[in-house]
Amino acid sequence: MKQVYLDTFGCQMNVADTDRMELILFHSGYQRTLEKEDADLILVNTCSIREKAEQKTFSLFGGLKPLKTANPDLILGLTGCLGQQEGKKLLQRMPYLDFVMGPDQVEGIAQAVDQVRNTGKPFVWTGFDQEKIYSIPELAGDLPKSPGPSAFVNIIKGCDKFCTFCIVPFTRGREKSREPEELFDEVRHLVNRGAKEIILLGQNVNSYGKRGLKNPMPFHELLYGVAEIPGVERLRFTTSHPNDFTRETIRAYRDLDILMNHLHLPVQSGNNQVLKAMRRDHTIEEYKGLLAELKSEVPDMSLSTDIIVGFPGETDEAFEDTMKFMEEVGYSSSYMFAYSPRPGTPANELPDSVPDETKKRRLQEVISLQHKQSEKLGQSFLGKNVEVLIEGRSSKPDYIYKGRNPQYWNVNIQGEEGTIKVGDTVTVQVENITGHSLNGTTRCGAGVQ
Ligand code: SAH
Ligand code: SF4
Ligand code: F3S
Repeated sequence: MKQVYLDTFGCQMNVADTDRMELILFHSGYQRTLEKEDADLILVNTCSIREKAEQKTFSLFGGLKPLKTANPDLILGLTGCLGQQEGKKLLQRMPYLDFVMGPDQVEGIAQAVDQVRNTGKPFVWTGFDQEKIYSIPELAGDLPKSPGPSAFVNIIKGCDKFCTFCIVPFTRGREKSREPEELFDEVRHLVNRGAKEIILLGQNVNSYGKRGLKNPMPFHELLYGVAEIPGVERLRFTTSHPNDFTRETIRAYRDLDILMNHLHLPVQSGNNQVLKAMRRDHTIEEYKGLLAELKSEVPDMSLSTDIIVGFPGETDEAFEDTMKFMEEVGYSSSYMFAYSPRPGTPANELPDSVPDETKKRRLQEVISLQHKQSEKLGQSFLGKNVEVLIEGRSSKPDYIYKGRNPQYWNVNIQGEEGTIKVGDTVTVQVENITGHSLNGTTRCGAGVQ
C-alpha cells in the first residue's frame, strides 16, 4: 500500500474530516504513516480561526518543501479552512503545493489525488456542496481502525450565526444537518465496533434539524433517539450557542441518565456592549437566566466556556465584567483567546483598539483566574468516588490509564495492570488534583475481592 501522512490543525470538525479522508484514502490504497519521510502523499488539514493557527501551517509547510524538492513524486495537499479562505493565493505563496481544497470537498479527496497523478497541474477546489442535506455515505469493506471508547459523530456542518469576529461561516458555509436515520445507523455501527460514549458534533449543534431534512427532528429529539440505541453508555454534545439552547434540551439532561452533566456553552464576554458588537445576540442577563434554569433542573451540572479578550472596543471595565462573570459562574474549564482579526469578517473593519500588550495581559489574567477556579472546583472531588470511562493510556508517570468523569474532568487512574482495560467504566477514588485533572486509584477489576 502507498503511505499517507496526515496532519490536523483546528477543531474537532477538522479532526473528523481528517479521519474521513483517511478512510476514503484507505479505500483507494493508502495507509496512514506517522513518518513524513515515508509518505507518498502528505495532507495538512488547516485551520484559520486565529492568525496563530495560520502561522503554524505556514511554518509546517516550510519544513515540507525540502521533502518535495528531494522527491518530486511526493504529493502535497492543503485542505481545510485556510484552503477555503485563501484558495489560489496559497498556490502563489507555496508553488510546491499540488492542490488546495476546502472543507466541503473532503469526499473528493481520492479524486483530487488522482487528478494530480494524471495531470501534474496544481489546482484549487473550494466550492461548497449544493445539497440541502449533509450526508456522510457509509463506505463498505474493511476499515483501517476501530473507534475508541469515545466517538464523535458529526450531526450538522456550517454556521449561520455570523458572529462578527468569526471566520467559520465563511469557511464552512451554511448550516446543513444529517438525516436522523443516517445518524442512528452511524451510532449503531460505532457501538458495534466498541464505542461506549457518543459525542454529537457541530459548530452549533442546537440548530440541528431546523432546515432541509426530509424527516425534520429538533435537537432534543435527536438526543432521546440516540439515547435509546442499545450500547450507548454516555452521550455528550458540542458546541452549543446560548440562543438556540431550548428548555426541551434542559429537560433532556434531567430525563436522560446517559446524557452527561457537562455543558460547553461559550459566552465570549461578560459585557453587554461587547456581546452586542460581537453579534452574539443575547445579553449577559439572558445567558445567566439560562444557566439558572439549567442548574435548577440539574444541580451538579458542570460548565465550560470560550472567552475572547481584547475584542475591539473592550475597555478595562468591560474586561473586568468578563472576569467578574467568570468568577460568578465558576466554569470548570475555559478555552481563552486573545482576539485575532480575521480577513473578511465584520469585526475586521472595526479599529483594532486594544493594544497587543493589553490583550496579552488580559489573556494572562483570565487564564490565571480559570486555573484558580479549576483548582477550587477540583478540590470538591477530593476523597470522592467518580465514575470514569477509560479512554487510553495515561501520559502521567505512575498512572496507567486515563479517562473522563461525567463532568468531563480528565482522570488519571492508578490500578493493577491487567485488571482493567480501555472501554471499561470504573470507580476511581480521587486522591489529588493537578490543573483540570483528577488523579486517583481504582479498586475495580478482577484483582480485587
Ligand atoms: N461554534 C462554536 C465555536 C467556534 S470557534 C461557538 O460558536 O461557540 C471556537 C472559539 O474560537 C470561539 O468560541 C471563540 O471563542 C474563538 N474565536 C473564534 N474566532 C476568533 C477570533 N477571530 N479571535 C479570537 N478567538 C476567536
Ligand atoms: Fe463562529 Fe459564532 Fe458560528 Fe460559533 S456561532 S462558529 S463563534 S459564527
Ligand atoms: Fe478552525 Fe475551521 Fe475549525 S477555522 S476551528 S478548523 S471550523
